Amino acid sequence: MTRTVYVNGQYLPETEATVSIFDRGFLMADGVYEVTSVLDGKLIDFAGHLRRLQRSLDELEMKNPLSEDEWLAVHRELVARNGVEEGMVYLQVTRGNPGDRDFAWAADVAPTVVLFTQTKPGLADNPQARTGIRVISVPDIRWGRRDIKTVQLLYPSMGKMMAKKAGVDDAWFTEDGFVTEGTSNNVYIIRGNRIVTRPLSSEILHGITRSAVLRFAAEAQYEVEERAFTVEEAQGADEAFLTSASAFVMPVVELDGAAIGTGKPGPVATRLREIYLDEMRKAAV
Ligand code: PDD
Repeated sequence: MTRTVYVNGQYLPETEATVSIFDRGFLMADGVYEVTSVLDGKLIDFAGHLRRLQRSLDELEMKNPLSEDEWLAVHRELVARNGVEEGMVYLQVTRGNPGDRDFAWAADVAPTVVLFTQTKPGLADNPQARTGIRVISVPDIRWGRRDIKTVQLLYPSMGKMMAKKAGVDDAWFTEDGFVTEGTSNNVYIIRGNRIVTRPLSSEILHGITRSAVLRFAAEAQYEVEERAFTVEEAQGADEAFLTSASAFVMPVVELDGAAIGTGKPGPVATRLREIYLDEMRKAAV
């Protein structure tokens, strides 16, 4: 089936959707994005993703091209047209096509708005959540505004490839001896009843899933401590996990070759995944 995608106000077959070669997203990675998961044909934590989109746009002095209602309508239309029951909606806003290449940008250029869906059956019932995933640590050499969700994803892609070459699933970035985050997720360790995760700053993306999971964790009487941790501390933890819009809560069972806890998904990460999926399905729009 040919996907229907959205480009600048039009719904088009993916084969007919085009953007300019002068688009600053293409030439300069001058754009931001969001990924919202879809379960039961509905959007998960949509309001959170729209809030962060607004923040990313504000930080880059870009206007939000659509209203909240319009964003919702486009998301829903794409989900409906593509029959997505389980998967994702990808949204990207770039600073558009100024007609030539120039480091300086002009405020009056119309942004480019692109959305498409990805169908992923088994997103919620992911077998990896039952086995856990294995990660390596790699140096975090990304730029200093990781709190802005830009499409500048070359180093995270390289991190993912380093993990693949090492025969594991993903990479955790480290800086000044401490773990920052995963290639495309926020990371956590568990000691007893306590969940430890790095506090929000410009060093990590402010995960929408992170925010919901920490809220559910506190409601479920877990202690939440927001501080940085090292690779060694993670290796000695009872459990570890990561969160993202597409992985939800994913247990991490090995870091740099050392098993974490029993080397199997632990009870806390497993419970948090269940709570997250239950609560977010109920609140989906
Ligand atoms: N990635 N940190 C980074 C660097 C990310 O790229 C992501 C999301 C997260 C988790 O954020 P959230 O919970 O809001 O999805 C943390 C998305 C899923 C992606 O790039 O596909």
